[in-house]
Amino acid sequence: MTDTLSVTDNRTGKSYEIGIENGTIRAIDLRQIKVTGGDFGLMSFDPAYLNTASCESRVTLVDGENGVLRYRGIPIEQLAEHSTFLEVAYLLIHGDLPGASQLAAWTYSVTTHTFIHENVKKFMDEFRYDAHPMGMLSATVAALSTFYPSARLIHDPAERVKHLHRLLAKMPTIAAFAYRHSLGLPFVYPDNDLSYAGNFLNMLFKFSEVKYEPNPVLERAVDLLFILHADHGQNCSTTSVRTVGSSQVDPYSAVAAGVAALYGPLHGGANEAVLHMLKRIGSVKNIPAFLARVRTGEERLMGFGHRVYKNYDPRARIIKKVADEVFEVTGRNPLLDIALEVERIALEDEYFVKRRLYPNVDFYSGLIYQAMEIPTDMFSALFAIPRTAGWLAQWLEMITDPKQRIARPRQVYLGKSERPFVAIEDR
Ligand code: ACO
Repeated sequence: MTDTLSVTDNRTGKSYEIGIENGTIRAIDLRQIKVTGGDFGLMSFDPAYLNTASCESRVTLVDGENGVLRYRGIPIEQLAEHSTFLEVAYLLIHGDLPGASQLAAWTYSVTTHTFIHENVKKFMDEFRYDAHPMGMLSATVAALSTFYPSARLIHDPAERVKHLHRLLAKMPTIAAFAYRHSLGLPFVYPDNDLSYAGNFLNMLFKFSEVKYEPNPVLERAVDLLFILHADHGQNCSTTSVRTVGSSQVDPYSAVAAGVAALYGPLHGGANEAVLHMLKRIGSVKNIPAFLARVRTGEERLMGFGHRVYKNYDPRARIIKKVADEVFEVTGRNPLLDIALEVERIALEDEYFVKRRLYPNVDFYSGLIYQAMEIPTDMFSALFAIPRTAGWLAQWLEMITDPKQRIARPRQVYLGKSERPFVAIEDR
């Protein structure tokens, strides 16, 4: 068997042999298929990248058919059970799990770069009192590039490392400051004695106590949710980071684009949308009527469905277990009963079964955050913090990949053909 594709162009009767590598053909190979010599050549048309690989990656495997997720080859279930977020961030960025001294150095570096310049703090103070934390986060991360101008030296490995550590370290600080700003509360400076997740809880919730002591169950739950959200292949925000980064801009600007993409309700905003939806459903008895509206297309069942997973999202399974542990500490979230019943009915309903729609990572994560008294506006920010590790791993892979160039898709122009300019008085 030869790894080629034979194509016959029925417009001309000509045949072509196109190479197949790693289960793909190269879209550029289609360009040789022309009707006339002056013809531009055939292109593939794939809005929303339904069947287009934009890169080769060695970071994360998402096998949606079988509900499999692996970071650098290691199953998410094993990482969730045995690892910590910072170790996972190291794994994603460096490619392998760290040894003990590497992990200690990495943890030290990330947890001692958590402070932000006082001017960044002042910058954040100037946002409107009710600014959405994701708007604040994307703008502030972009602004960091003006504080660290050497970040533009993206081809210098030492520079890259510096900014990568800074981004991972400062993301929780900026997110927590955005939260405190929205409540009109004073900012809480990082406590570098605490774990990554523990310090984040400290910056969110500390009041007048001398030392904030995070509840270990909640601290572990946040760390675990961070592990589950750390990377997910070429999703919308990662593709945004790669696309913006392909112009060779600094990593702060590229990551800010990722935050902006994550802000949308079809991506990181989904867990926030799930809670609004569950509140709107209001009671278990209203579920059948709500699902009937989903079937007719009047509603969308938020937290269900995924572009890649056509099976149970493995992260949703792990999150369901964490939810039980968290609710033991915080008390049961009353919306949980509605969520469980929605899931039960939907998984047996022909509409969802036929379309292979299963709960995704966002279906239960919002319930956990809400039980921890984190406001819904903050949910996407809690996604952006760990996803920064994935964005950076993918950004590094992209800028060191000789096959990558500036991202620039083609278009199919269907607009007007040439016509003359008409003076305003003649229109
Ligand atoms: N509720 C109802 N119907 C749905 C849903 C849903 N949540 N998701 C998909 N469908 C239907 C579509 O209407 C379509 O039906 P049709 O074939 O009759 O037209 C079919 O299932 C296929 O769906 P698409 O829209 O083609 O799926 P796509 O891959 O474009 O969208 C997405 C994926 C955006 C995640 C979608 O499932 C959705 O909107 N889900 C709700 C939002 C959500 O939970 N997003 C979080 C995703 S995970 C993450 O970003 C971390």
